[in-house]
Amino acid sequence: MEPLIRVRGLGKQFGPGCPRCLALTGPEADTNLCPACGTVVACHGIHFDLYPGEALGVVGESGSGKSTLVRLLHFEWPASCGTMEIHRSALAGLGLDDAGGEGGAYSGNLLACNDFRKRQLRHLLMGIVYQNPHLGLRMGISAGGNIAERLLGAGWRNIARMRARAAELLDKTEVPVSRMDEPPANFSGGMQQRVQIAKALSNNPLLLFLDEVTTGLDLSVQARVLDLIRNLSHEFKLALLVVSHDLGVINLLCQRTMVMKAGRVVESGLTDQILQDPQHRYSQLLVASQL
Ligand SMILES: Nc1ncnc2c1ncn2[C@@H]1O[C@H](COP(=O)(O)OP(=O)(O)O)[C@@H](O)[C@H]1O
Ligand SMILES: [Mg+2]
Ligand SMILES: [Zn+2]
Repeated sequence: MEPLIRVRGLGKQFGPGCPRCLALTGPEADTNLCPACGTVVACHGIHFDLYPGEALGVVGESGSGKSTLVRLLHFEWPASCGTMEIHRSALAGLGLDDAGGEGGAYSGNLLACNDFRKRQLRHLLMGIVYQNPHLGLRMGISAGGNIAERLLGAGWRNIARMRARAAELLDKTEVPVSRMDEPPANFSGGMQQRVQIAKALSNNPLLLFLDEVTTGLDLSVQARVLDLIRNLSHEFKLALLVVSHDLGVINLLCQRTMVMKAGRVVESGLTDQILQDPQHRYSQLLVASQL
């Protein structure tokens, strides 16, 4: 099996940049802030493959660049450098024609596509669940309406079918269907995350980004939402990119993990191996701090 997504040399800087930014930042310097010019090297040199149906973890302390990585891959922010490619068979499966490029098994660089194309890919290929439900949901319209909006984006038009699909997804994510006409503002934090998950799954994505989705929830609610994600990701055969500062979350969901520090990946490999025998000094600290 070949990777669904290939990411190479991905980076994002905030600021003017100077010739010394990369040398003066990173895990050894223990900062992502260039002292010479004030640029933030939010992430740099990110390199990974994500296989169909696989869950890949991204773990690291606050500010290490995890959310930036997600926002680049979800086309919310332009990357400063690097490429993201998708297997052409996945594009064909989505009914999308080729994104250009050189030929071969992979598309050209998706990050270089035009806005129309990026919107299409976001609507048909990807789903996302944010830590902050206000980023993922409109709090003033109904839960069902939030899902319908996403379906409209993916090309759905029949109102009765959209409503049936929304009810089906809310049921799958264990939100009482009787509440689908209520706005998410009325819901608990855990239930808002369930609505976000229902919305993210509504267009049958191949790729789901989860950014600290259970951070801030009560432990019992966290456990149930993570269980739900695990079951649904198998049912929907989703490739997951799971971002968390919490190794427990990563351990529960992900076979493979990347450890980030100061905008760089310092270690990557099987989650079990990283937990049992971390190689990089920073991974050792992270594991020890969460024993
Ligand atoms: N719009 C921005 N302008 C400047 N710096 C930013 C911006 N967004 C994020 N950053 C910085 O990028 C770094 C990485 O942030 P982030 O990706 O949110 O980390 P994490 O999700 O791991 O906590 C942080 O130092 C953050 O302050
Ligand atoms: Mg974050
Ligand atoms: Zn600099």
